[in-house]
Amino acid sequence: MLLWFLPWPNKQFPKKILDLALMRTSRHFFSLEGIDGSGKSTHIEKLAAALEAEGYSVVRLREPGGAKISERIREILLDASFKGVMADKTELLLYNAARAQVIAEIIQPALDAGKIVIADRFAWSTFAYQGYARGLGAEYVQKLTEITCGDCFPELTVVLDLTVEQSRARTAKRGGAPDRLEQEKADFFERVRQGYLAAARDYPDCVAAIDVDRPFEEVSADLIKLVKSRL
Ligand SMILES: Nc1ncnc2c1ncn2[C@@H]1O[C@H](COP(=O)(O)OP(=O)(O)O)[C@@H](O)[C@H]1O
Ligand SMILES: [Mg+2]
Repeated sequence: MLLWFLPWPNKQFPKKILDLALMRTSRHFFSLEGIDGSGKSTHIEKLAAALEAEGYSVVRLREPGGAKISERIREILLDASFKGVMADKTELLLYNAARAQVIAEIIQPALDAGKIVIADRFAWSTFAYQGYARGLGAEYVQKLTEITCGDCFPELTVVLDLTVEQSRARTAKRGGAPDRLEQEKADFFERVRQGYLAAARDYPDCVAAIDVDRPFEEVSADLIKLVKSRL
């Protein structure tokens, strides 16, 4: 399927319009998105197990990470001591560097071998966090996504949508010190959420948002159904 990254309609996005960038999506490549606490890590296990039970070979990974070099970059990205130090552009480039590696080392080889790949976060995180919430704008994100992903882009991304308050209530139970990104204020996550919803609105062929303020099993069934509809 072909996918054109068109300028975003959101008024927070005053950056100049980029030339249309042509992207191709990869069959059997899926990603889960959503703010922290939305249920990505929990759902990915259930989804993978459901697909494996049907005989599919599934590779799951988390972003940033999923490969040794990418996990190292993750440590730098999430290091709370870099709060207020790391430049937004550094953050953008590091996420893309981590992604380029996991694509080359893990994702593309798995897809070439006919496996299903499910990523806990992928390029739409960069759209929502760096492009939308940090305000770096669509142009940088689009250019870098083209460079980093090429034709390796999920055919379907499911956004697990939850209010910021609800997500906070869920993550509060986790304990442990918040990482650099988790330390952002509620309005930042509100912008992230809006970025995701804008993606679902503007790219309905490859981004679907589902309300996760419902019983886990109900959400899981919807998610599995959505993914199976592409197989
Ligand atoms: N539909 C749901 N209802 C209630 N709690 C949920 C639901 N989905 C996930 N959770 C819980 O919310 C918490 C955060 O989920 P997690 O998968 O770690 O989110 P994420 O990976 O998106 O940060 C976990 O304790 C999980 O069990
Ligand atoms: Mg998680």
